[in-house]
Amino acid sequence: MNITYFGQSSFLIEMNGIHLITDPFISSNPKAPDIDVDGIKAQYVLLSHGHQDHVEDAERIAKNNGAKIISNFEIVTWYGQKGIDGHPMNHGGKWKFDFGTVKYVYATHSSVLPDGTYGGNPGGFVIWDKNVCFYFAGDTALSMDMQTIPMTCPKLDFAILPIGDNFTMGHEDAAIAAEFIDCDTIVGCHFDTFGYIEIDHAAAISSFAKRGKKLILPAIGSTVEGV
Ligand code: NI
Ligand code: MN
Repeated sequence: MNITYFGQSSFLIEMNGIHLITDPFISSNPKAPDIDVDGIKAQYVLLSHGHQDHVEDAERIAKNNGAKIISNFEIVTWYGQKGIDGHPMNHGGKWKFDFGTVKYVYATHSSVLPDGTYGGNPGGFVIWDKNVCFYFAGDTALSMDMQTIPMTCPKLDFAILPIGDNFTMGHEDAAIAAEFIDCDTIVGCHFDTFGYIEIDHAAAISSFAKRGKKLILPAIGSTVEGV
C-alpha cells in the first residue's frame, strides 16, 4: 500500500495494484498549486459527500481515467447523469471491489452538490483487504456511532480523520474519535487549507499524544510515511 497526500481530504491510495483517490479538491486548493490533476491515474474516485472542497476535480479525474465513482446513491446518480460510471452505496452497506472491501459508514455533517442538488447523507469509508484496514472519515463531527466501527470491521491499522475544526471536529475531538475507533495511528486531513481551518500543529500532535496516539500531518505532494 502506498498513499500520497494532495491536500484537504484528497489522498491517492494504491491498494493491490489499483489506485483510488479520495475527495479530490486540487485545482483551486491554494495549498496545492504543484499537483497536476491531469497527471493523476486512478481507477476509482471515492467521494464522502457532495461539498465542493471534496468533489471539485472528481469529474475531471473520472473522465481522464474512465474511473468509477464510489459514493452514496445520490452522488453516484448525479455523476451518472454526466456519463460517469459509479457504484452507489448507503450507510452500513459493504461491497467487495477488486482492490478490497469498502463499507460506507455514517458521518455527522451535511451534503449538497455544487449545483445545489441534494447530496444524500454524508459518509466515510472503511476499506480493507487481508493485509490492512483503514478508515477514511470524510467530514464529520465526533460521534458515538464511531464506536460501532471496531465492532463491525477488522481492526484498524490507521485512520484518516479531519482535524481542522469549524466545519468538522477539531483535533481535541478527533483524538477522542481515535479512542472510539480503537486506532493508534491517525493521519490528519482537512486542516490549513484556508483560514477557518488553520491549526496549531504542535497542539494537534499533543492532543493525540496525551491519549497515547500518533498523529501524522502529511505534507502535500508527499507520500504519507508511518502508516
Ligand atoms: Ni463538507
Ligand atoms: Mn469539507
